[in-house]
Amino acid sequence: MSKVAVVYYSGTGNTEAIAELVAEGAREAGAEADVFSVDDFDVNDADNYDAFALGCPASGSEELDDSEFVPMLDELEPKISGKNVVLFGSYGHGDGEYQNDWQERSEAAGLKVLGKLAVEQDPSEDEDITAAKELGAKLA
Ligand SMILES: Cc1cc2nc3c(=O)[nH]c(=O)nc-3n(C[C@H](O)[C@H](O)[C@H](O)COP(=O)(O)O)c2cc1C
Repeated sequence: MSKVAVVYYSGTGNTEAIAELVAEGAREAGAEADVFSVDDFDVNDADNYDAFALGCPASGSEELDDSEFVPMLDELEPKISGKNVVLFGSYGHGDGEYQNDWQERSEAAGLKVLGKLAVEQDPSEDEDITAAKELGAKLA
């Protein structure tokens, strides 16, 4: 059974809600999935997982959160080179374009990006819920 870690940063809860849906989708597809907010995740446990769903909202100016998420990512990426990942997060006034740079960064670090999902604010629409679960299923 594939073991998935869902690791997210969320300031106001929207990306957290997506994280729970991604984990649900992974479990429904047969994987084991653990969900961690970024401050609860120990990068030294990365070897325990086959695949990662990484979540961060659009922050700064179309950037990742650099207070907690980027410092964690800087440590995590070298430990999970070659592994499958999906990227997700919420955005507000933009269009989710911050995820393009994030995908490039991930691939440059050797991660295999199987998919990504940007949701406007919270995942309340049926199509967002379906897309988040499908994203998780890709890692199973
Ligand atoms: C400091 C700050 C910077 C933000 N920068 C962007 C941005 O560049 N582009 C965008 O689309 N939304 C931006 N937003 C909006 C958030 O991405 C949006 O509210 C998102 O739903 C927050 O997700 P969260 O609840 O997981 O924290 C910003 C919000 C804050 C507080």
